[in-house]
Amino acid sequence: MEHRIRNSFLRSRVMSADEAQEWIRDGMTVGVSGFTRCGDVKAVPRALVNNIRKTGDLRRIHLYSGASLGEADSWLSSNHLVDRRSPYQSDPETRKSINRGEIRYIEQHLSHTAESFRDGNVGPIDLAIVEAVAITEDGGIIPTTSVGNSPLFVQQAKQVIVEINLSMPESLIGIHDIYLPERRPFRSPIDIRQVDDLIGYHYIPCDPEKIIGIVITDEPDSPSRMIPPDEETQQMAGYILELLEHEVRHGRLTDKLAPLQSGVGSVANAVFSGLEQSPFNQLEIYTEVMQDSVFHLFDSGKVAFASGCSFSLSQRMRDHVLSSLPQYRNQIVLRPQEISNHPEVIRRLGVIAMNAALEIDIYGNVNSTHVLGTHMMNGIGGSGDFARNAGLTIFVTKSTAKNGKVSSIVPFVSHVDHTEHDVDILVTEQGIADLRGLSPRERAKVIIENLSHPFYKDALRDYFQRASVQGGHTPHLLEEALSWHRQFKEAGDMRKLEPSVL
Ligand code: COA
Repeated sequence: MEHRIRNSFLRSRVMSADEAQEWIRDGMTVGVSGFTRCGDVKAVPRALVNNIRKTGDLRRIHLYSGASLGEADSWLSSNHLVDRRSPYQSDPETRKSINRGEIRYIEQHLSHTAESFRDGNVGPIDLAIVEAVAITEDGGIIPTTSVGNSPLFVQQAKQVIVEINLSMPESLIGIHDIYLPERRPFRSPIDIRQVDDLIGYHYIPCDPEKIIGIVITDEPDSPSRMIPPDEETQQMAGYILELLEHEVRHGRLTDKLAPLQSGVGSVANAVFSGLEQSPFNQLEIYTEVMQDSVFHLFDSGKVAFASGCSFSLSQRMRDHVLSSLPQYRNQIVLRPQEISNHPEVIRRLGVIAMNAALEIDIYGNVNSTHVLGTHMMNGIGGSGDFARNAGLTIFVTKSTAKNGKVSSIVPFVSHVDHTEHDVDILVTEQGIADLRGLSPRERAKVIIENLSHPFYKDALRDYFQRASVQGGHTPHLLEEALSWHRQFKEAGDMRKLEPSVL
């Protein structure tokens, strides 16, 4: 234990998870570690849920994290312990509670959460609970497989509980680069000029007096829910790889490309897998989440360096990575999410960003979050941080959902997360649309012709043609713009579009 808790005074603060959960009071604002089901707190939330089941002592909290937690999101939501939740989740139980209006959910650009607390717009944070590999002599907390918002939570919280996770190898020590920007105004520039620039500490500084409890656990991270690539996702990946080759031929990129970001999902994974056989070399990754494919690329010698704020790995890959960390040590860094997603750095590096959409409209607006404009899926996550600031912004979606009953290309998106101004390239299994330099009417043509499913193409052409007759810079038939969604809501199938629409 001396290795894991190097401050002897703090060793006296070791307690059980059940004792630690007593510190959580009704109405508290609690900031926890965890990002894409990695490096999340596990023992204390479980003990809180068990205690409430036993005693009926319901304590509802305002829960802030990096992004999605593992099982804790589900336990806490299904036991009605979450009053307010931010900034991102991807858990079915939490989603249901949000859409019932039970959880007040503030989904947010992932680089914004830390700023909101720092500026005092939300908070203060009563309690931070973070998972760690170890605590240094000075109380410094060394995170595990994600950094997320933990540095900010620890800095701002009145009290801190640490879960030391013995299943996390000590070889994780040294892979983090913890830097917190100063308060505004007069903030210094964030001095990351290259992906591998290190600017901070390898631990989260913390006054040992603030650490009120330390819980020892050995529970591994939940494995990622990765869906393997299918024929359509591989087709989409193929279009993106062709585009990148095209950019190199035209001198806009070199064969090192630009630092790559990819959202979670099977297309991103398929693109990265495709890079293994590509002519590109010495690739760099500046992303939020490192999925399995990043490590496949390392193993095939294609990647020089990867910077992220979290791992999101299958069980097999997690076991491999955690047991082979010394092999990757000089090529990986995990940063706080406000740095991995910082607009200043993303813009400076000219990142190539690839994220997924639920639906896209004929002018290039993207909905990533709200099914039929009302029901929350996950949240905007980091997609907006990257989309607005990247050198090249790509969104992908299959051209239909729900076995063809939904067209993902619609006249007007039912909710806008990424405006047409933030979108360069769109991809479906039908093809690719390069929107750079195109006016709205030009964009509509290329989106309908290149991306839509054959079943819906004529209806989209017809909508655009009739809207164009009425004029406007971005022509629409306002009375019909959302009729496709209404049709799905009423008939469960967009293919049953009314004759006036078809
Ligand atoms: N209308 C209604 N439902 C739709 C739909 C549409 N246009 N498009 C997809 N769906 C449904 C699917 O049928 C599926 O439903 P199911 O869970 O009942 O099977 C579900 O939405 C997920 O669709 P899928 O195609 O599997 O999407 P995905 O796993 O690739 O995720 C997003 C797509 C947009 C939900 C996901 O990428 C996301 O949450 N993005 C926002 C956050 C983000 O980009 N993070 C990374 C930033 S770094």
